Amino acid sequence: MLPEWDLFTRPDGFRQIIAHRLPCNWLQVVENRGDHLHAVYTHGRQFQYVLERQGRLTDDPRARYNATMALQAERAARGVYTRTRPIPNEFGFTKTLMESDRSEDSPEWQLGFSPVMFPYTVYPGGTEHEIRHDYQFGVPIDDTHTWHVTYRCYVFPSELDVPRQERIPYAEVPLQNERGEYILDYVLGQDMVVWYAQGEIADRTQEHLTAADACLIHYRKLLREQIEIVQRGGEPMNTFRDAARNRCLRTSVYTRDDSTARDGRAAGYYRANFHRFSKGGWRYIEDDVDRYCPDKELIIGLYEQTEALGRRASASRELAQASQPIGVPLR
Ligand SMILES: [Fe+2]
Repeated sequence: MLPEWDLFTRPDGFRQIIAHRLPCNWLQVVENRGDHLHAVYTHGRQFQYVLERQGRLTDDPRARYNATMALQAERAARGVYTRTRPIPNEFGFTKTLMESDRSEDSPEWQLGFSPVMFPYTVYPGGTEHEIRHDYQFGVPIDDTHTWHVTYRCYVFPSELDVPRQERIPYAEVPLQNERGEYILDYVLGQDMVVWYAQGEIADRTQEHLTAADACLIHYRKLLREQIEIVQRGGEPMNTFRDAARNRCLRTSVYTRDDSTARDGRAAGYYRANFHRFSKGGWRYIEDDVDRYCPDKELIIGLYEQTEALGRRASASRELAQASQPIGVPLR
């Protein structure tokens, strides 16, 4: 039976599905699942570059500011680096990252976040305090094509009158615009170009893995291990035959708070500068694949209703204020 991951079955979700067809092998997509550290360049520097090429960066230092790059520079000045590791669990693993001067006893190092569910699903973030949740699947079509599915599940406050869905709307979205240019001014668009720009099947003999690739290495080992289990006639991870065991499956994750979410804040800062936050501080719609949701206007209306209730994004409050200059412009 299909695994009943919690976003599939929870009763309070408003769902949308957005899919892309990628001209590359599925493993390139899935390997990125373990890589936290790509955000600095893939989403920080690349965002800035793309928007600059589009003439959307202004002279306002807030709009030119790249928090992820500045945070890295600040770490280097302090002699601190980012550590990362996988934390195995029964469905796959969570990933974590932490600055090297923090204790290994810290909850983020022990619990992790952004679960990977074997073989090809990731739950970015995976924490409860957001409205916006999603699973991303890198489904193999053949050796050189992948069907990438974003399963969005918005969880609005129970006071709202969220329309009941008879079926989940689905949109298949192109990688290129009508002029044949790759669309790179949103988060998933930036991830995807990194996957398919490696070619149809990446040449791993040319790579130089480091300690920063610990989660990617873990995934490859897990994949080999599971292949061997199948070769021996066994059943791989996340095979469910017992309905009682297959209910609203979820992984425990560490929920960041404002005092420790240095990377989370940095990620939010650049999105706040370049993209959209609602008045209450919720990340929404334009900065990511949500812009293609068939029910986009309805979802924006539900965010507005959430804010009318006086609800603010607790962990994201500081992000909403990030339109103030908070660091150095790159130039
Ligand atoms: Fe990414």
